[in-house]
This record gives sequence, C-alpha cells and structure tokens, in this order.
Amino acid sequence: MLTLPIAMMDLEPRQVLAYSVLLLIPALYFLLRLPSSQLGHIPTVGGPSTPLFSYLGSFRFFVRGVSILQEGYTKHKGHLFKYNDWYSWTVAVTTAQQIDEVRKAPDDVLSFLETGLETVQGDYTLGRAVHENPYHISLVRSQLTRSLSAIFPQMMDEISTAFEDTIPTPQKHGDWVKVHPRDVITQRGVKFLGPLITERSRLAAELGDEWKDKPNDMLQWCIDSGVGEAIPDLVMRILTINMAAIHSSSITFTHAIFHLATNPHFIQPIREEVDELIQKEGWSKETLGKMHKVDSFLREAMRMDGLAAVSLDRVALKDFTFSDGTIIPAGTRLAAPARAIHRDDELYPNALTFDPWRFSNMRDKTEQGAHNFAVNTSAEFMIFGHGKHACPGRFFVVNEMKAMLAYIAVNYDVKMADDSADMPPSMYFGRAIVPNGTAEVAFRKRQH
Ligand SMILES: *[C@@H]1O[C@H](CO)[C@@H](O)[C@H](O)[C@H]1NC(C)=O
Ligand SMILES: *[C@@H]1O[C@H](CO)[C@@H](O)[C@H](O)[C@H]1NC(C)=O
Repeated sequence: MLTLPIAMMDLEPRQVLAYSVLLLIPALYFLLRLPSSQLGHIPTVGGPSTPLFSYLGSFRFFVRGVSILQEGYTKHKGHLFKYNDWYSWTVAVTTAQQIDEVRKAPDDVLSFLETGLETVQGDYTLGRAVHENPYHISLVRSQLTRSLSAIFPQMMDEISTAFEDTIPTPQKHGDWVKVHPRDVITQRGVKFLGPLITERSRLAAELGDEWKDKPNDMLQWCIDSGVGEAIPDLVMRILTINMAAIHSSSITFTHAIFHLATNPHFIQPIREEVDELIQKEGWSKETLGKMHKVDSFLREAMRMDGLAAVSLDRVALKDFTFSDGTIIPAGTRLAAPARAIHRDDELYPNALTFDPWRFSNMRDKTEQGAHNFAVNTSAEFMIFGHGKHACPGRFFVVNEMKAMLAYIAVNYDVKMADDSADMPPSMYFGRAIVPNGTAEVAFRKRQH
C-alpha cells in the first residue's frame, strides 16, 4: 500500500519522479479522451466540447442528465446530437430509422455487452466467470420464460406473504397503514445461497434422476446447466440476475404505486377486470395474460417514468456509418434518449398526462394495438431496450408486476398518506431515475 507523505520535502528524487508519473496518468487520461473534433459534425448539448473542458460537461451530466437529454431531444429531434456522460462522448439517436440502424448493427461493430460491462465495471463487480460465459442470459430468456405458468403458484404465494409481512394488519379494522413503497419493494434479499448450493449438489449426486421434488428455479437451472461452476461464481451469477430483476421491477413498480395512490379512482376499473377474471378462471399465468387494463397501467407507468433517461446503449468497436453518411468513430458510445422519446407528444398525445388506459384503448381500437403490451419493445418504447439485446427477463418481470398490481387492487384500498394528488418527485442523477424514497403510501384492507 502506498501512503502519501504529508510534505513533498521529505521525498527522495526517485520518489518525486514516481509520484509525478502517478499524477500524470489521470492527466493523460483527460487529454487522450476521444478528441471531440472527430465528432465535430454532431451538435453538442450540456457543456463545452473542447477537450479538457469537456469534463465540465461530464459533471453537469451527472447533476442534470435528464434535462440535458430532454434539451437535446427538443432541439435536435430528427438528427443526432452528442453529450458527455460520465464515461465518454455519447451520440444520441432520435428517430425510429436511426434506432433501427443501431439495433441492427452487428455486435462486433456496435457492442451492447461492452457498454454494460464498463458501466458496472464487470471484471471487478461481477467477476470474469459471470460475464465471460453469460449462460444465465439464455436461461432467463428460455427456461425462465417457459416456466412462467409452472412457477406461478409459487410466485403468487410469495406475493401474498410479502404483502402480509410488509403491510401489517392495523389494530383497528379499516385503519390505514403507511409504507415507503421503494424500501418495501426492494426488501427481498438473497442470503445463504452457499449452503443451499452445497445441499442441492449433494442431493443431486445422491438421488440423481430419482430426485422427485427437485426445485424448479433459477438456482437449480444454473446448477443443472452442466457448467459445474464454483460456488462463489454461482452466487455472483444469481446475485447478478437478482440485481437486474429486483431493481428494475422495484423502480417501475414504485412509480406505478405512486400513480395509483395519487389517483385512487383508477383502482375501480382494475378491480372490475381482475374480480371478473378471477371469479371465472382463478389465478394463473393465463388469466394474467387477459388483464389488459393491468398491463396497460404498468406500460403507461413505465412510459412516463421509466428506469433511466437513456436506453439502447452501445459502444462503437469499429467506425460505424449511418445510412445518411454520418460517421461515428470507434470508441464513441451511442444511446437513445428514451425518456424524452417516451414523453414526445407526437408519439403519445398528451404525453405528460398519465392515462392508464392509453394502451388498452389502443388495443381495442386499432390494429397496432396488438404491439402495445407491456413486454413489447419498439423505437417508441424502449424501457427494456429494443432488438436482439432487449431485456431477456421482461416476460418474467412484467408477469410479476401484473400479479402484484392485480393482487393489490383486489385486496387493498390505496392512497397517498397525505392525500396528495401529485406524483411525488423522483430523484435524478446522471441517467438514473430513482423514485421518491420519502413519500408515504397508505394501504388498508379493501372496503367495498
Ligand atoms: C407483444 O406481446 C404480446 C404478448 O406477449 C405478443 O403476443 C406479441 O407477439 C408481441 N408483439 C410484438 C410485435 O412483439
Ligand atoms: C419526495 O416527495 C416529497 C413529497 O411527498 C417531497 O417533499 C420531497 O422533496 C421529494 N423528494 C425528492 C428527493 O424529490
């Protein structure tokens, strides 16, 4: 470990040299950053584009990224613009045509994985084993999605237990119970996976094909995949999947709950839909599939608030040329300003109004409605990304959120604890959108 001496005076010349070199490394990093002149043909928002000063832009982006992206979209819609995010210059695509060109580009030209790894610093946070052989992605896409019906009873069971735990029965019947939805929704942690994996490996070795009540879950699928991975890597892999699933669904679902609690009258149409279906068919994944209002409500909450201000992240590994001839040099990041697109009046009439039946009405009235389920991605709806790298877990996540919303609607009355009708403001940093952590939502057992 290096400890920096308090006074440079105490240093020997050799040490001075060593420290100077250490200080030079960040300075070089600043200077060697992709010169903006290579992107001079693309207009800039959010800060200066001269090399050293561009770091001011990065800092500004951290503080007010959401409004910088909105400004860029409003000014340059129809064209490309660039902004400085925390990592590097990023070129924003604004049209369906550009979005299509980006999503169709081969992985060795515009890479999705590389941006993701850089953002989470994958080598250090996940470990190489997880991302060098990302077999869990195909497990999520195939096995998890195929098993939605089979695991439905288990999931419903978890949901009702979780709600009973977090919304305690009030002392007096009919009393409201206040909760911070963001904290409550992220509470399910994963503990003690290690012993569980050991136990399961033992059972598998002992019972083999005779193992009748073998668990049907992600952990077991990872164990069964034949990779024979070490326990620490397996734990990291499960945590990776959980991180992706829990945070995305908790952020989205918290927004949805706030919309419901600020507009308690929205609960009635949901209740009618769910009550009728449940009475006829009971709870199942197939019944959920018929809950068009529930689905529409969640898609609208995702449209308005989303998870992040951008989507469709890529980094150019080679020079990339758009069909209009614009060249994006290797090393540049690309992204779509998803939040600004989702809030564009030309794409969504009265885009700033939360209209929970926007998509279910579309489905009833127009042909294109069939593409407007919560899991469907498009150039106008990129919460889950779009194209071949769209989130493989979205079928699971949407299914889970629909079950939770339906469960709440038929079991609880919901309102803001202070009876407010205004959506509590979210927190923004960089590209991230974080639902309000202090506003309280009040629940009570359903009265009517
Ligand atoms: C939209 O999602 C529904 C429900 O999963 C699916 O049946 C349909 O094929 C999807 N449409 C598109 C265009 O992806
Ligand atoms: C959260 O919402 C409350 C109103 O319920 C507001 O006073 C507070 O400033 C909001 N928090 C943030 C971080 O915006």
